[in-house]
Formats: sequence, C-alpha cells, structure tokens
Amino acid sequence: AGSLGAAAAQSGRYFGTAVAASKLGNSTYSTVLDREFNMVTAENEMKWDTVEPSRGSFNFGPGDQIMSHTQAHGQRMRGHTLVWHSQLPGWVSSIGDAGTLRSVMDNHITQTMSHYKGKIYAWDVVNEAFADGGSGAHRSSVFQNVLGDGFIEEAFRTARTADPAAKLCYNDYNIENWSDAKTQGVYRMVRDFKSRGVPIDCVGFQSHFSSSGPPASFQTTLSNFAALGVDVQITELDIAQAPATAYANTVQACLNVARCTGITVWGIRDSDSWRTGENPLLFDNNGNSKAAYSSVLSTLNAA
Ligand code: G3I
Repeated sequence: AGSLGAAAAQSGRYFGTAVAASKLGNSTYSTVLDREFNMVTAENEMKWDTVEPSRGSFNFGPGDQIMSHTQAHGQRMRGHTLVWHSQLPGWVSSIGDAGTLRSVMDNHITQTMSHYKGKIYAWDVVNEAFADGGSGAHRSSVFQNVLGDGFIEEAFRTARTADPAAKLCYNDYNIENWSDAKTQGVYRMVRDFKSRGVPIDCVGFQSHFSSSGPPASFQTTLSNFAALGVDVQITELDIAQAPATAYANTVQACLNVARCTGITVWGIRDSDSWRTGENPLLFDNNGNSKAAYSSVLSTLNAA
C-alpha cells in the first residue's frame, strides 16, 4: 500500500498522528494528514484547560473542529486526555476537598465523553499518573494527593459508564523498557484492575525516544502487557533525528504483537513537533517524506 494508514490497515491496524486544530487550514499540512493517516489525536484541544477552563463551563469548539475534519476524511479519533496533572486549570489544582474534587473529576469525564459519545475509538482516561525514577508509585498530583490511590480506578469506572463503546486506556511515557520500576508499577496496576474487574481496555506507550530508539525489551513489554488481556498502542511516537532503523524497529515491535492495534506519531512535519530542533518526525518542514517514512512504510507493507 502507498500510505501509512493503508499499509497499517493490511494487518488490521491503524496509523495515526497528533493534529492541531489551528493548522487544519494549512494545505501542506492537511494534504499529508489526509493522504497518510487514518487515526487522529488532538494534540491539545481535548485537554482539561481547553475543554473546561472554568468549573462547569465547557468549550468543545477546538476539539469539534478536529472531529469534524476526521469525519469528513474517514479518519477515527483517539481521545486525549481526561485526567492529567498537566494542562490542568488552576481552579482544579487548588481544590482541597475530596468530595468536591471527586465530583469535579467525574463530571469532567462524563461531560466530555458524553459530548463525543460513540465517536472516539479509545480515550486516554488517565495520563502520566506514575512517577519517574525508581519508586514504581503514583506521582504527586492534586488527584493523587486529595483522592488517594483510588482516583485512577474511579476515573475508569466513571468513563465506562459515560461511553461504553470507547476503549479505555491508561497512557504514559518511559514505560517502554520492561525492567524500569515505572513500567513495573503500571503493569501491577493493570494486572490488579483486570483481576478485580475494573474496566480498562488498553495501555498507551507514548514512545518519545532518544536517537537510540526503543529499548531492546520494547516488544517484550508490549507482549507482557497484552498478555494481561488489554490492547496496547504506540500513542505519541517521535525519535530524535528520526533514524530510519529506530523507526522500523519500533513499528516492527508493534507488528510482532497481535494485540498492538496501532501506532500514532506525535505530529506530521518536524516543524509541528514539540521537540524543537530534534527533527523527530516522518516529514520535513516542507511536508516531504524523510528516510524514516520509507522505512516505516516498507516495514508495514512487509507485515
Ligand atoms: O495556546 C497557547 C497560546 O494561546 C499561547 O499564546 C502560547 C504561549 O506559550 O501557548 C499556547 O499553548 C501551548 C500549547 O502547547 C498549544 O500550542 C502551551 O504553551 C504548550 O505548553 C503546549 O504544549 C503541549 C504540551 O503537550 C503541554 O504539556 C504540546 O503542544 C503537546 O505536543 C504536548 O503533548 C504531550 C502529550 O499531551 C502528553 N505526553 C507528552 C506530550 C509531549 O509533551
């Protein structure tokens, strides 16, 4: 197949990208988007600071702009993200009362998922809740500090009720290396959720890699999580300097795991990346494909 999305579809997978609503009017951008990708994640537009900037007042405009573009072009969407310590408005991070915060969190999940009900393939229900380093524990956040460990379970249970058709994912970075304490902490949580019937359907591995690419254990990590009974996805892939081999190895790891259902890169052109100056994406600033693009496409086509 001649595009990333069509090539991934040959094995029942998708190939996606992060999209910024403000760039949809740029024809270089939208031409590559609509030619290559069949899954879209809003880069910022469905985050709490945009969607609910003040309590109970919801702004779905920017997210809707991306949703209507995808509907017009036959693309699906991942929802990103409902509960995250970052891009969180001050009115939420200053809540100190557990009852208030619980109802604010549940209402945010319910309102946002209801607005997009039936239109989202998978939601990143909770993003980046685990700490970096060796603890394997949750990071400090208003949700953790005020609601305690149970906030993640609460969020997933609320999400299942709000849109039973959406897959519910836990999404994080630096959980790609199997032996890392952070990976093990997330693994224990997913195992616990599955054993107790807490609704969780997928784990997103952000995969923001250095130029050396994925860790040697990446495929092992994906398959060990999949063996718990969840789908796994590569959700925010970018690799410093975009080495063709590192990209191919990342894609191959997904292709080798039956429950790895898709891959999303975190932007289209290098100039769209949050990693300024690292040129970590598949297209250059003019929208021309790079060597990494060809290696990804041929890896997908060989599957
Ligand atoms: O929209 C405002 C604009 O009004 C303002 O003038 C400007 C001045 O700084 O800021 C604009 O907001 C920026 C926003 O991107 C939209 O461009 C924020 O400052 C900036 O912090 C924000 O960065 C985003 C970052 O998440 C925030 O944490 C990046 O675009 C986005 O790529 C990045 O994505 C995250 C994932 O959601 C989660 N995983 C890590 C990943 C990379 O950091």
